[in-house]
Amino acid sequence: MAIKTLEEKFIHSLGDIYDAEHRFLEAQQTLLESAHSTTVTQLLNTHIGETEQQIANLEQVFGIMGLKAKRVACDGAKGLVTEGNKLVKETSDVPALVDLAIAGGCSKVEHYEIASYRGLIMGAELMGQTEVARLLSENLRQEENTATTIESNMPDLLTKAMKTASKAA
Ligand SMILES: [Fe+2]
Repeated sequence: MAIKTLEEKFIHSLGDIYDAEHRFLEAQQTLLESAHSTTVTQLLNTHIGETEQQIANLEQVFGIMGLKAKRVACDGAKGLVTEGNKLVKETSDVPALVDLAIAGGCSKVEHYEIASYRGLIMGAELMGQTEVARLLSENLRQEENTATTIESNMPDLLTKAMKTASKAA
């Protein structure tokens, strides 16, 4: 369907991130089974809870706009999940590399979400949708915090991977 107005574009993008959040939720739940370190397990567990809350926030946003929540197939999210799962599989012989692959994949996902929410918030503000912008900002803040947490744990995960991977080689 052709998109002709800012509102239509906004609703499309909303459906897109709504689909993406569902895919990421499922992916995080699956990755939990592959994670080895407490750092990565905790990260996933915390963000699974937040992602569930974000999905509920998006449903509220749809409601405010007078719409039923609807997923629009998000190829970007699909690709990120496929890519992440592939790397986890390929590193499966070395636990520290699996953890690194999970953290790296999640970091890419967070940045995809950050870009999506920033765009949506700008659109909501332009349309004068204050409550929508507030709910989306809650999601954005969680994504930004998660990205920062992953980045601050990266040096440790890399060091661990360097030590064990060189032994495995
Ligand atoms: Fe996220």
